[in-house]
Amino acid sequence: MPIFFDESKKTFNLFSKDMQYTMYVDQNERLCHAYWGKKIRALDIDHIANFYKMAYGSNLSLELLPQEYPAYGGTDFRSPAYQVQFEDGSTVSDLKYAGYKIYDGKPKLDGLPATYVEDEDEAQTIEIYLHDGIGGLGVTLTYTVFEKFQAIARSVRFKNESSKQIKILRASSANVDFEDDDFVMIQLSGAWARERNIVKRHLVSGIQSIESRRGASSHQQNPFIALARPNTDEWEGEVYGFSLVYSGNFLAQVEVGQYESARASIGINPFDFSWLLEPSETFQTPEAVITYSYEGFNGMSQTYHKLYGTRLARGKYRDAERPVLVNNWEATYFNFNEEKLLTIAKEAKTLGIELFVLDDGWFGRRDADNSSLGDWFVDKRKLPEGLDGLAKKINEIGMKFGLWIEPEMVSPDSDLYRAHPEWCIHVNGRERNLSRNQLVLDFSRQDVCDYMIKTISELLRSANVSYVKWDMNRNMTEIGSDALPPERQRETAHRYILGLYRVMDVVTSSFPNVLFESCAGGGGRFDPGMLYYMPQTWTSDDTDAIERLKIQYGTSYVYPQVMMGSHVSDVPNHQVGRVTSVEIRSHVAMSANMGFELDLTKISEDEKVKVKSYISEYKKMRKLIQFGNFYRLLSPFDGNEAAWMIIDEKKDEFLLYHFKILGMPNAKNKRLRLKGISTDKNYKLEGTDEIYGGDELTFEGITIPYRHGDFQSALMHFISI
Ligand code: DGJ
Repeated sequence: MPIFFDESKKTFNLFSKDMQYTMYVDQNERLCHAYWGKKIRALDIDHIANFYKMAYGSNLSLELLPQEYPAYGGTDFRSPAYQVQFEDGSTVSDLKYAGYKIYDGKPKLDGLPATYVEDEDEAQTIEIYLHDGIGGLGVTLTYTVFEKFQAIARSVRFKNESSKQIKILRASSANVDFEDDDFVMIQLSGAWARERNIVKRHLVSGIQSIESRRGASSHQQNPFIALARPNTDEWEGEVYGFSLVYSGNFLAQVEVGQYESARASIGINPFDFSWLLEPSETFQTPEAVITYSYEGFNGMSQTYHKLYGTRLARGKYRDAERPVLVNNWEATYFNFNEEKLLTIAKEAKTLGIELFVLDDGWFGRRDADNSSLGDWFVDKRKLPEGLDGLAKKINEIGMKFGLWIEPEMVSPDSDLYRAHPEWCIHVNGRERNLSRNQLVLDFSRQDVCDYMIKTISELLRSANVSYVKWDMNRNMTEIGSDALPPERQRETAHRYILGLYRVMDVVTSSFPNVLFESCAGGGGRFDPGMLYYMPQTWTSDDTDAIERLKIQYGTSYVYPQVMMGSHVSDVPNHQVGRVTSVEIRSHVAMSANMGFELDLTKISEDEKVKVKSYISEYKKMRKLIQFGNFYRLLSPFDGNEAAWMIIDEKKDEFLLYHFKILGMPNAKNKRLRLKGISTDKNYKLEGTDEIYGGDELTFEGITIPYRHGDFQSALMHFISI
């Protein structure tokens, strides 16, 4: 059994795989944090509790005590995990232990995305009840431990057990009080077209945090942090991961207090947030998935990849191979007609591409990005036979048809906005700032969500659509809703996300055979919340192969390659102007869900031959590429190279990718030692007669021959014999 309660010592022990998480109730009925790390044969809670007894030895010392869900207002001056305001205006509370329940399986989170189990034996859950008697506040901490993953899914539920209103001001999904502060904090940061670059810094006294206030999880910061012991590398060292299953404003922070302890927390951003609870109402926080690895960053990533790949993603495509697609965006932008699209599709078909995706510009009168969002009817000037007509012709060519939509947005120049100017996020009397010439529809409103569910459902029924790219191209400003009373205005951003989750839930479950890919100006919402509804995300609007090395490498810290879209695009690249070979562009795209995003009718015959052979190779290795275990070998953040491997579960087959960024004079061949393969097996390098021992590749390495010039790559396929 993974969860035990020791009544005599009031201790909770949560075990999963080789991980232990221990809490206890102290002499003052406080739920304290004791230990999180590798499984210990017999952890004596007294050894820990005695160490912390000094917390009560003086009058102002709760700062010495690691707590599970610390409150505001007592003798702990660090950031609390939560804060509420009672009707008398006071904001002080204190939670005392009030009981627990342990059960098999994992509960669903009402209206929120979360990891799940398929069989109750896969996990066990404990709910721990805490109570503030004076204010009538009940708080339930929920922890699910998975049998197979070094992970705990945590969330918190607040209940107003009083007869008066209670306002929640802050509600972290998880808090962990570490005894010391000797950690490096890792975050995935960047900007539009530069998402999820790896940033590391040693903790220092005070607060270090990342957050989003943009209404989306954001390009700038991914809802994830890790705390690693100094000198941790890919293979060794302890790493604690914190990932939030949420797509809106979040805060992940670590506070180093005066006693050199580190308090880590993650949850909805308390900035501009509050939530009013009427008597007996509840509030459920999003889920945080916390992971522990003593096998470095690779260990952490393997846990997130497997958990998110198999127990967060859902639907038919969770385990199904994803098609090779061609998208017309960078090929035509808004300037296309049916004939142009069909020419690209025909060329794509001859090269082996399986899915044609019609991007932005097919609806309303959208010849530029300044109109028509919200008017989801086809533009007959461009597509005289409608979407249905185009889809049929694409199907006749032998390809599936996919469609781009941006349902959360509205252009001021649209019939929808003219009919319902109150349907966008705004504050009455204030300017409605445009971004990309558009406004955000108010998904905190039920009527707006219902309208969009109906509109999108009718649209998807109107043609044979096999794939949808669900885009979202701006952040929120002037956050407010006409439909909410003044005391609930600060609920707007979270209610928007809840509305979005409902819309996505209804739409994706009504169309179970459609593959959905989410997108937010590229990777502005590459988060576990979106991945619960849509099993893949357009990784970045930057399609340059060299930029993608960093973006995909950073993304792989948390998300498996099957969740990333990666396209071969034109040169000079549209985002950075770089010219790279079709070989390296293909090898980068072949590291994830491969697609194309260029006018295939315009590439040279020589390139067509190459593209055709890469696509055919990709299809043969697709199962391994999309569902194999991803191992990072060389980081593009550290130097002039990048390398990674994808290994099948049984270690019978693997791929080795090597990328050299800039050419170097007087250079030698590269020796690369491999990881994760079987040292007992022998492997044949496909396309050659060469055979290597797994031990040789692991300990001695393999030679990557010197290649002249910038932007060189190699992809090697090994099969055990
Ligand atoms: C942003 C997306 O990331 C692009 O791929 C493309 O779909 C454009 N939006 C279309 O407006």
